[in-house]
Amino acid sequence: MTQPILDQEKCTACGLCVEVCGLDVIVRNGNGCPTIDRAAYCHTCGHCVAICPQNALSIQGVPGDQFAPVHTPAISPLDMETFLLTKRSCREFKERPVEKSVLENLITVARMAPTSINCQERAFIVVTDAAKIAELREALTQHIRSLLKMVKLAASKPAALFLSPESQEHMRHLQADFEIALRHTGGGDDYIFHNAPCLIFFTGITMDPSGRDHALGAQHYLMLYAETLGLGTCINGYAQSAPKILAKHLNIPKAHTIYGAIMLGYRKHTYRKRVYRKPASVVYYE
Ligand SMILES: Cc1cc2nc3c(=O)[nH]c(=O)nc-3n(C[C@H](O)[C@H](O)[C@H](O)COP(=O)(O)O)c2cc1C
Repeated sequence: MTQPILDQEKCTACGLCVEVCGLDVIVRNGNGCPTIDRAAYCHTCGHCVAICPQNALSIQGVPGDQFAPVHTPAISPLDMETFLLTKRSCREFKERPVEKSVLENLITVARMAPTSINCQERAFIVVTDAAKIAELREALTQHIRSLLKMVKLAASKPAALFLSPESQEHMRHLQADFEIALRHTGGGDDYIFHNAPCLIFFTGITMDPSGRDHALGAQHYLMLYAETLGLGTCINGYAQSAPKILAKHLNIPKAHTIYGAIMLGYRKHTYRKRVYRKPASVVYYE
């Protein structure tokens, strides 16, 4: 069990740790001094360690250097906005492989994405082996073929009795996309992975209702951070919709499910204009 340790000698009783501990693990005692009360409830979030101006807190079993001081200034709102408003999916990659050290760096950052009760239960599968990528492409091509039959049915006139016009419209888009994917793949193009030199899959615990969030949180951290290294990424919906098929090819244990899948590689192009999106649909209760 991990738990916070409070060095009473260093503590000045400022109470910041009490304020940020969301689980009442650290509370004020009768003298108003912080004290560890319900250690068993600690999620090891480290908020107390990170906020203490006196370095009076540590977490049992977690080396102190894991809580390195923050020196860099926060990103300005304008920089962040520009970054987010110009980030685009990447489907054209340089032939250059992504170095192992870069992949390790990406995962080091991605694992920082939050998880419920700070469980950190997720895993990453990184595929750079061209033969394995080809094997997955073939498996997904077959999957798309079988999905196309169902999607065609859902997009057909009789199905209008059961589906809303919006759902049918979506089915028609899917049908077109699947047909293009199969046409390109049949012609020797890689419409599924776009010749990406690397695929990354993100798993979460199958039985955990938050398993998907844990995987996708890490996926989005990784995707955003990758941009800063000149890398481009693109979510792969074909793969994300076929976790069981992929699990067989990637030896994923039953306890885990693949929830996230991306292509990754060095970007071939730079875009000159920001992304366009429809206005957001928002409701405020004020
Ligand atoms: C759940 C999901 C699945 C996606 N699947 C694919 C895919 O299989 N292939 C692909 O090329 N792009 C895929 N995309 C990328 C979207 O097409 C892309 O995000 C969208 O067109 C907006 O473009 P942008 O990301 O460049 O702004 C997917 C995106 C999401 C969120």
